[in-house]
Amino acid sequence: MTVETDKHNTGSHGDTRLDHVAIAVTNLEETLKFYEESLGLTRLEIEVVEEQGVRVAKLEVGNTHIELLEPLSPETPVGKFIAQRGPGLHHICIGVDDISSRLTCLKDSGTKLINEEPKIGAGGAKIAFVHPKSTGGVLLELSQPQ
Ligand code: CO
Repeated sequence: MTVETDKHNTGSHGDTRLDHVAIAVTNLEETLKFYEESLGLTRLEIEVVEEQGVRVAKLEVGNTHIELLEPLSPETPVGKFIAQRGPGLHHICIGVDDISSRLTCLKDSGTKLINEEPKIGAGGAKIAFVHPKSTGGVLLELSQPQ
């Protein structure tokens, strides 16, 4: 068996972790009835993130999270997503230590980025989205905690 390594998987960028999986929903309180009451997950907080146009409920799952995203209006990215495809899996988020160096490296490798520079997301984290065309069809968020 051959083990292939290169500079991208030798840890030169620091740690990664699954930060959260985000689900677009039309009604936060309705959806929380399932995740909180039926499934028994612990809800940590509900936060309005104006920059992203969403109200976010964060649920604890082991050492990672599920985020329920309710659009603040139909004109927001999540509002448009729901209008086109209905509610459902919106993105997955990988936590990184140094988002700027990650973005530079991804740009250099020809990755299609939605945000070339980090923006401020929930909890004050620096975030950037990678286009589904480069990720196997899933919207991917990178996040560096505050
Ligand atoms: Co997210």
